[in-house]
Amino acid sequence: MLSRLNLFLLTVLVFALLLLLLLRVDHSRPNYQVILANDMTYSPAYSAYAPNPNFADGRTFQRPVPGTLARGEQRFDFAATPQDAVRAGNELANPYPANSPERKTAVERGAAHFQVMCAPCHGGDGQGNGPVAKRGFPPPPSLVTGKSRDMKDGQIFHILTYGQNSMPSFVGQLNPGHRWELVNYLRSLQEAAPASPSAGPSDGQGGDKTGTASEASPPAPAALPAQPAATEKK
Ligand code: HEC
Repeated sequence: MLSRLNLFLLTVLVFALLLLLLLRVDHSRPNYQVILANDMTYSPAYSAYAPNPNFADGRTFQRPVPGTLARGEQRFDFAATPQDAVRAGNELANPYPANSPERKTAVERGAAHFQVMCAPCHGGDGQGNGPVAKRGFPPPPSLVTGKSRDMKDGQIFHILTYGQNSMPSFVGQLNPGHRWELVNYLRSLQEAAPASPSAGPSDGQGGDKTGTASEASPPAPAALPAQPAATEKK
């Protein structure tokens, strides 16, 4: 009954079924593949963490060349010494031109940083009567009438970067942009203060400062009122 053709087709079918059973698909691994030209499937490029015989250290991923700056990073070739602070004052330029709208925004942002990072010691108005200073920490000089008034912008930037004596470094908390904003905020504080012939704590401001310090014994309210004022300006 079975013609030769049917017999042949039956053999093919049985063979195909057998193959299907033998070559059971394992979904946990890549299937069998026939790759004639390999180049689109497997890239000839080394992947970042693969060993690489072309480099002396045998790695694909190479360290950046010494001195490389990430995008947005700024060079700061100064040591943590008073001499270099003065040199920074002579060599670093304030990135915000005077009277520019950018500077105005920088001052506003600097005011916000100041209330968070600096007011605890320097006081909300920069007079040096922050709550920390009222509890035994060496009181900082006034930032409005003190020596910093005569410092160049870059020197203040250096102080914010490395600290100065008992003032800590802020390099971990404030990026260079934040530090320049603070420099400009301090400048605006100083510009707003009445000019005094020889800057020092003995002028009228200093007297006011000690007056408020002894009157308002809870220190927080003394420092806080300046905060909403600073944010309102935005
Ligand atoms: C832990 C308390 C503390 C904090 C916080 C602090 N300072 Fe100071 N700062 C000081 C002290 C103390 C001095 C005086 C250091 C010295 O004896 O030279 C000082 C000095 C300075 C000076 C130099 C003033 C001068 O006349 O020599 C500047 C400018 C200054 N601080 C800015 C800032 C700014 C801006 C911030 C916020 C980012 C800040 N400080 C945060 C304690 C602090």
